[in-house]
Amino acid sequence: MNMNVALPGLTLKNPIMPASGCFGFGKEFAQFYELSDLGAVIMKAATAEKRFGNDTPRVAEASSGMLNAIGLQNPGVEGIIKEEIPFLKEHGMPIIANVAGGTVDEYVEVAEKISEHVDALELNISCPNVKEGGVQFGTDAGLAEDVTRRVVEASHVPVYVKLSPNVTDIITMAKAVEVAGASGLSMINTLTAMRIDPKTRKPILSNKTGGLSGAAIKPVSIRMIHQVYEAVNLPIIGMGGIESAEDVIEYLLAGASAVAVGSANFKNPLICKEIIDELPNTLQKYGFTSVEEVIGGAHDESTENRVFRS
Ligand SMILES: Cc1cc2nc3c(=O)[nH]c(=O)nc-3n(C[C@H](O)[C@H](O)[C@H](O)COP(=O)(O)O)c2cc1C
Repeated sequence: MNMNVALPGLTLKNPIMPASGCFGFGKEFAQFYELSDLGAVIMKAATAEKRFGNDTPRVAEASSGMLNAIGLQNPGVEGIIKEEIPFLKEHGMPIIANVAGGTVDEYVEVAEKISEHVDALELNISCPNVKEGGVQFGTDAGLAEDVTRRVVEASHVPVYVKLSPNVTDIITMAKAVEVAGASGLSMINTLTAMRIDPKTRKPILSNKTGGLSGAAIKPVSIRMIHQVYEAVNLPIIGMGGIESAEDVIEYLLAGASAVAVGSANFKNPLICKEIIDELPNTLQKYGFTSVEEVIGGAHDESTENRVFRS
């Protein structure tokens, strides 16, 4: 079974990678399986300075998913370059850095520095859990276009822009970042959500709202990817509730070229490896002989099977 996928900046031996923020910088997971078995790794967000994130509680359970409001906790771009990337490099799979910031200048600074050390960037303009930056860039097409253009100019590698589902019209957002020179899209980040504790009568999360992820959001993501695949000519890394090889096939049919597994890593740290092992049989079960032939299979012939290479 041919599991390869070639994308701008990325030669993937299979389409499976862990989603940003759900795998740290890989060290904890390296004790469970060989990281080079992954198609690629997407690191936790990098900001210019170290961030400690929001106060606890910052995660809560939800039916078929979870809420989080971590608030971009990370050791800062210099710390990541010095302490985290060398470990990942020892394993030899492609590395994608997730870039975040409070201002356009901060995004540019982080992108410029970290892009010298990785294969691609995932531009996080969609974090719903920080007070400044993040989501406002991902919900205003003009700001999204501006920050994408500036980051693309400053970067040494292809830039995948991570879209927020917290918008009325996902196609307008996708088109704005395509015009600005993005090499690809990453879809989707979490949906802004809330839970309330009946005993305290207050929101459970200290941030009040958090991002909903997990199986609950899969149909939303599939719908958005299907729409965006028909509207723009960029490869898509799909994510949202993936827990099995069957889920991966659904994402590829919708139009994703590769996928990221997020919340499922918290339930089962072996999940990415298990999906990689399971994928050849599942592809065969549905009559496929390669991953690339599945991509966009749910669309009519005019858009079917687009292959994006750098
Ligand atoms: C605890 C947690 C932390 C996250 N941190 C980040 C982050 O730093 N940057 C980012 O772009 N997305 C972050 N995300 C979003 C995920 O990468 C992913 O887009 C989302 O969770 C949907 O995938 P899933 O349903 O498989 O979890 C985080 C998600 C969770 C649950």
